[in-house]
Amino acid sequence: MEFQFPQGFVWGSATAALQIEGATREDGRGDSQWDVFCREHPERIWQQATPDLACDHYHRWAGDVALMKALGHTGYRLSIAWPRIIPDGTGAVNEAGVAFYRRLFAALIEAGIEPNVTLYHWDLPQPLARAGGWENPATMDAFLRYARVCFEAFGDQVKLWATFNEPSWSTLNGYVTALHPPLKHDYRAAVQVAYTLMVTHARTVALFHGLGGDGKIGIVQNMCPVYPATDSPRDAEAARIADAVYNRWFIDPALLGRFPEDAVELYRRNHILPEMRREDLDMVAADSVDFIGVNYYFPHYASADATETLFGLNTSGNRDEDCHFSIKGLFKFVRNPKGRYTDWAWEIYPPGLRDLLARAHRYRPGLPIYVTENGIGAQETLDADGTVDDQYRIDFVREHLEVIHGAIADGMNVRGYYMWALMDNFSWLNGYKKRYGFLFIDRETMRRVPKKSAFWYREVARRNGF
Ligand code: NOJ
Repeated sequence: MEFQFPQGFVWGSATAALQIEGATREDGRGDSQWDVFCREHPERIWQQATPDLACDHYHRWAGDVALMKALGHTGYRLSIAWPRIIPDGTGAVNEAGVAFYRRLFAALIEAGIEPNVTLYHWDLPQPLARAGGWENPATMDAFLRYARVCFEAFGDQVKLWATFNEPSWSTLNGYVTALHPPLKHDYRAAVQVAYTLMVTHARTVALFHGLGGDGKIGIVQNMCPVYPATDSPRDAEAARIADAVYNRWFIDPALLGRFPEDAVELYRRNHILPEMRREDLDMVAADSVDFIGVNYYFPHYASADATETLFGLNTSGNRDEDCHFSIKGLFKFVRNPKGRYTDWAWEIYPPGLRDLLARAHRYRPGLPIYVTENGIGAQETLDADGTVDDQYRIDFVREHLEVIHGAIADGMNVRGYYMWALMDNFSWLNGYKKRYGFLFIDRETMRRVPKKSAFWYREVARRNGF
């Protein structure tokens, strides 16, 4: 075998509650901001899709766990729906919601699959969203209470926790590009929320460690490496700023215990720096994660030639349609003319993952790292023989695993890999069009059909390499 992984390396896949559970109005679950957004802005989502049914995992979880087991998974990354546990965000705990996850975790453990659980994967309870969401400091308190409820209810079953999923992506899309709820384009609010999320993260880590259990806690970050578009000094500067805004604002507090000085300066100059209270900064400095989750899909190339402010995600699945992220006078992301691209115009660039792992390792040498998401979205249908021949997904995963293998050989402490996703799911603005799963979901019948990649991965997991 060419690529043998260390013993105990976790072979898994990932999902998120809103994207697979469905049953959005069952057993006392409250609305999340995404349920309401889909209802109020159906035109923004492909085919007016909603998460109401999703993959019906809420009812089919036992079969899904059995499938994971059959596919040789040793780990599974999932999220808890806050509105299932505390339906209105602040009030009574919904015992039916707690019972659902207890059953699910028990089945996973019984199947030899270790749950890696994210507390917040963007499904903010709607009453909190209506009251100002993460701009309102009360949301931080509500989250801390929710986190405590989860730690106490599931701490005996769950040993790997993550506070937030991709705080950078949710902040930028919620408050800069105005593509995700709350659909704002407000730099001041963006920086305030980005700050509050990282302080909330730090407080949650301290809370967790204070409870003294035997679990570990981390955060899941989308770390898009940012490269200069050309070798000009202006583009190098644009890349540095973009990296500060996009990545370092979120990674530095979590791993180094401080916000990056260049971003602080940028925000101060533009009069959008929130009040940074001593007690918050002390909290950020005081405690730290036990591991870092890295989500990696594609890199960015920054150009200084940003003459307009323009945002847009490719939601067509047509690779000629560019994604746009350009802030006038600051930086804009451009396409790599030599790059390989997916149908959603995301570049396939495995060495980017190496750069991210190296950064995490450089920041905190030896810190356990999990690749908590990595995968490729495609439009897929069942072949005539009733299967899906997704060789491109096998190639994608294999190339990234090779990079991880190299990183481990060079001393980086990468402990596991969770392919995004276990199954095709509600892919936010792309609805059900963009399929990511090992399991194909027949949208008519909800039948799960393992794709060719699922069988390939089963062998990789079984042999602990390839
Ligand atoms: C990252 C997000 O965490 C996940 O929810 C999403 O579906 C994937 N990216 C793919 O876009």
